[in-house]
Amino acid sequence: MQLLKAAISQLLALAGVWLALRLWPDILEARWAPAWQAAIAALLSRLLRQPLWWLPIHLLFFPAVLFAVSLQLPAWAYLAAGLLMALVFWGTAGGDVPLFLSSPAVAAALRDIAVRERAHAFIDLGAGVASVAAPLAATMPELRVTAQERAPLPYLAARWRCRKLVNATVAGGSFWDCDLGRFDLVFAFLSPAVMRRLGRKLEREMRPGSLFVSSSFPLPDWPVSAEIHLADRRATRLYCYRIGERHG
Ligand SMILES: C[S@@+](CC[C@H](N)C(=O)[O-])C[C@H]1O[C@@H](n2cnc3c(N)ncnc32)[C@H](O)[C@@H]1O
Repeated sequence: MQLLKAAISQLLALAGVWLALRLWPDILEARWAPAWQAAIAALLSRLLRQPLWWLPIHLLFFPAVLFAVSLQLPAWAYLAAGLLMALVFWGTAGGDVPLFLSSPAVAAALRDIAVRERAHAFIDLGAGVASVAAPLAATMPELRVTAQERAPLPYLAARWRCRKLVNATVAGGSFWDCDLGRFDLVFAFLSPAVMRRLGRKLEREMRPGSLFVSSSFPLPDWPVSAEIHLADRRATRLYCYRIGERHG
């Protein structure tokens, strides 16, 4: 759906600017046409209620296309770049979760939480390149760490990173198909688009008393048990939820 909205925004903006250039060539200077196209595409994307993070994509897309055309690259270079992007940002175009990496401060804070909780089994839902799972498994050999990641390239990078960590498992496929009942500490750094659905899954599957920690995005309508503010570059907030406290 998001991909369709993005295509509509880009194409309508392109058609509008092309028409304006033909109808009023004296008013609209051709050299400003890419900037107008980008601005109109961004505006249309907002009108179609796309998430905010699509804005820079709309602003940069057409200028980037023109720049790439000016480089006169061979066709296979575009195919290779497209494939690479698909392997890294698997599923992102469908409107859910892009790849951003947590800072070392997040991994350190989760370590403190795991120690305090006396956690036995931890999972990172959407583990990326194991920026959290690998340091956690390395510093807590007694903790069973699972890194669940569905995008092929990050999954392979996570596997490589965890290859010597016997207490770490890197699992492919979607975390929506994964049973969370066997974990007492669950972590996610995802996107607001999936948090409500995730809340329902946590409520169904996690055991009472276990802990869910979300980086940056709170669970809508859930009372937060604790909020941790980190002094990293993103000023990350960790929202902690004790399962079973929701209605208590
Ligand atoms: C924002 S990144 C966070 C990466 C890592 N957890 C960290 O904190 O550094 C989100 C990751 O979730 C992955 N992801 C999104 N939806 C997923 C799903 N349904 N199943 C497994 N992984 C998913 C994306 O591919 C991406 O790598």
